[in-house]
Amino acid sequence: MRILSGIQPSGRLHLGNYFGMMLPAIQLQQGGECLYFIADYHAQTTVHNAKELREYVNGIAVDFLAAGLDPERSIFFRQSDVPEVTELSWILSTVTPMGLLERCHSYKDKLARGIAASHGLFCYPVLMAADILIYNSNLVPVGRDQKQHLEVTCDIAEKFNNMYGNIFTIPEPLIQADSAHIPGTDGQKMSKSYNNGIYLSEDEKSFRKKIMSLKTDSTPVELPKSTQDSLILQLYKLVATPEEYAAMENSFLSGGRGYGDYKKTLADALWNHFAPYRKRRHEILSSPDYIDNVLQDGAKRARAIARETMRQVRKATGLGDLPPC
Ligand code: ADP
Ligand code: TRP
Repeated sequence: MRILSGIQPSGRLHLGNYFGMMLPAIQLQQGGECLYFIADYHAQTTVHNAKELREYVNGIAVDFLAAGLDPERSIFFRQSDVPEVTELSWILSTVTPMGLLERCHSYKDKLARGIAASHGLFCYPVLMAADILIYNSNLVPVGRDQKQHLEVTCDIAEKFNNMYGNIFTIPEPLIQADSAHIPGTDGQKMSKSYNNGIYLSEDEKSFRKKIMSLKTDSTPVELPKSTQDSLILQLYKLVATPEEYAAMENSFLSGGRGYGDYKKTLADALWNHFAPYRKRRHEILSSPDYIDNVLQDGAKRARAIARETMRQVRKATGLGDLPPC
């Protein structure tokens, strides 16, 4: 069983990225051969500053490793260290119907958010298909917003296989129902584009300040509080034990405590939950070569798999032999 996922280095990582994508990916390390990568080619559709891109790549590498990605167990690499994927993306684009890409919500959403309509942004799903297919991935853990891209990947793989023979494995998405939509401080989906994020690398003061600013209604302290759609409860559920969660829920229903109290409990629980992450982060940051070594080793291992697929693809489609690295 081969498991693969990627994350774009287009900003700092927030709790939504952590609980929606990173944590499930880290937990899956027990269940198969995992490949996780930093999708820097994809980020180039929105980040056009070299220094910024390098900083984001480094930030994601630190966060992922500090959160528990084990580079001995998983292959962790930077997408652009396996340039063969862009060749596959080209080859796949020659069998991808325009209509398939024109239907993609994510492209339309990005335009609506003011991102320039480049060719790269439009064919983003083809590069994503190449990422998945070049490693013969079986399972792809992603957030719900990526489901359509997985469907596009399967369509492209089937089209290619019908035309050239059974080269690609058809992948399956793995979408975590309970953490697919972590709310931000304003109640909308937490996102770096909505200015509602609580970031992993936040210092304690601003972390707590953001928790204390979570949107609530104006129910007075003594009255029972609604447990429906409560941001405090939704976030508390991510880190509390079932007993701790039930205690807070019951206290909401009986009244007598104010939202400020609950927010303080939540801030303590979240801050403590990330104590091992902060410790590990500190260790990683104090050994300057560690990240480069991990990414280089990951790239070597990932590239060997990708080049084997490209040998088959080149042969099947009539291109020449794969040139040496
Ligand atoms: P953002 O919305 O901040 O730009 P990305 O689109 O870069 O985040 O998402 C990276 C990964 O994190 C994806 O797998 C995505 O599904 C997941 N993710 C992002 N925001 C959330 C959220 N609020 N809840 C759950 N998962 C999320
Ligand atoms: N598009 C994904 C996102 O924005 C990142 C990504 C790129 C990816 N290639 C991938 C995810 C391949 C899974 C598999 O979150």
